[in-house]
Amino acid sequence: MKYYKLALVGATGLVGRTALKVLEEYHLPISEYVFFASKKSAGTTIHFQGKDYVVKELTENSFDEGFDFAIFSAGSDTSKHFSPIAASKGCIVVDNSSAFRMDPKVPLVVPEVNSEALQHHNGIIANPNCSTIQAVVPLKILDNAYTIKRIIYSTYQAVSGAGQKGVEDLIHGIKGEAPKKFPHSIVNNCLPHIDVFLENGYTKEEEKMILETRKILGKPHLKITATTVRVPVINCHSESINVAFEKNFDIVELKQLLEKANGIIVQDNGAENLYPLATNANGHDEVFVGRIRRDFSIDSGINFWCVADNIRKGAASNAIQIVKKLIEMHVS
Ligand SMILES: NC(=O)c1ccc[n+]([C@@H]2O[C@H](COP(=O)([O-])OP(=O)(O)OC[C@H]3O[C@@H](n4cnc5c(N)ncnc54)[C@H](OP(=O)(O)O)[C@@H]3O)[C@@H](O)[C@H]2O)c1
Repeated sequence: MKYYKLALVGATGLVGRTALKVLEEYHLPISEYVFFASKKSAGTTIHFQGKDYVVKELTENSFDEGFDFAIFSAGSDTSKHFSPIAASKGCIVVDNSSAFRMDPKVPLVVPEVNSEALQHHNGIIANPNCSTIQAVVPLKILDNAYTIKRIIYSTYQAVSGAGQKGVEDLIHGIKGEAPKKFPHSIVNNCLPHIDVFLENGYTKEEEKMILETRKILGKPHLKITATTVRVPVINCHSESINVAFEKNFDIVELKQLLEKANGIIVQDNGAENLYPLATNANGHDEVFVGRIRRDFSIDSGINFWCVADNIRKGAASNAIQIVKKLIEMHVS
């Protein structure tokens, strides 16, 4: 059996630390690991798989020693500069940042949805935005069956989506401290503002959801709109998704399709107060779907509620599932 060597860039961050946990759970055939961060954390120790590893500073020479894979979770400036260097040394980069997602030469992959896109890459594979990943898992199943013609996203996104500093804004804000990461206090507020505002009135997060969904589903002209909102929840994004279909559907069959799908857990029983919750999705890799009901205001459409762990399925786990898939597909 072949064993691989993996670099984890941003190993000390929120996504990086979760990636360490997921790597311990997944038992991939990886025999060598090197953990990178910025100068700030270089020299600190990470305990992983029963051993202590010293975190190294990421430099332009970091990839000279040779790696099969590198998972980057260190922001888009770091990815833009260092991913091409890693790829040029023969390493396949799976990048969690937004740096390359819309590059037509870079596959944007959610393994349950479009793993075939992994066959053709130039050394860099992009992990989609967390709010997009959890949405496209059920949407792909529905598109295959009923052909989606329009999507309306309304999101309720956890503070962990803004990294460690986002989490600290909520925790410290509860104690009365002023926000450092968000423009307003996230305590007792929902902020309809994630990432920067664009000239057209949308935010960058909303634009990411629209463009990335089209790319992953392979439907460049799909009608999509989005409102993305930060809410005072530590972890796990929740989303209300309204979908219009080309074809008619039977609501019982539609639910059964989602129940049978890989990577989805349906929790949908109002009589028992059963629906997806952030606290239940926390720590899981599946996408939780519920409140599935016909939208009576259009000819053929539904509303549903979708919750997932944004740090796991929305970032770390999806990236590691991509590495797993590449190994299984013998893609090099
Ligand atoms: N949080 C989410 O839900 C989520 C979801 C999807 C994607 N992402 C993406 O994943 C990335 C990391 O997010 P996060 O939430 O983990 O952020 P975070 O908690 O702020 O962690 C950032 C990590 O990047 C490292 N880093 C920063 N500058 C670096 C540099 N110049 N060279 C090497 N390492 C550097 C930091 O190391 P130090 O300890 O040395 O500072 C730290 O390990 C971002 O690109 C983000 O957009 C996040």
